[in-house]
Amino acid sequence: MKKSFWILLAVVVMSALVLAACGGGGGQATVERKAPPPEYAGKTNPYAGDAAAIAEGKELYNVNCATCHGETGAGDGPAGASLDPKPANLITAAKEASEDYEFWIVSEGGAAAGRSASMAAYKGVLTEDEIWKILAYTRTFGK
Ligand code: HEC
Repeated sequence: MKKSFWILLAVVVMSALVLAACGGGGGQATVERKAPPPEYAGKTNPYAGDAAAIAEGKELYNVNCATCHGETGAGDGPAGASLDPKPANLITAAKEASEDYEFWIVSEGGAAAGRSASMAAYKGVLTEDEIWKILAYTRTFGK
């Protein structure tokens, strides 16, 4: 009786560990997005829905981002193939991430947002306007 209790306990603990390691067993790990800091919180895209800006954003995206995130945003660009974690799926991000979060992580980089440092900071590389135009374009992914 006592011995079987310990075996049962061991089995329960082991299965809990295996489940935790697999993240519940669902393919891609769930993305944890922290709340943006005050200087980014609540910002909205001044170019949302602006066709001319979206066209410009598309060109900028294809030059700066598609190598990793892929032309359709699926996260399957050639330069991202060897990265772990893989470049984020921006089709999913368009549905789930807030505009201020996206602007924050693109400006300050993945490390600042508690994500992969392979996602570089584009502040100083691209202007704020350029980043917003790119994001106005990526928001159209999956639509
Ligand atoms: C060197 C490859 C690389 C390039 C180039 C790159 N990214 Fe990323 N990106 C990543 C990686 C890796 C992550 C984070 C994955 C993780 O930590 O889960 C990421 C994350 C993101 C996220 C967060 C998405 C989410 O679901 O929360 C956004 C938004 C993003 N990138 C946009 C861009 C934009 C816009 C550009 C171009 C200006 C760009 N990235 C260029 C690799 C790249």
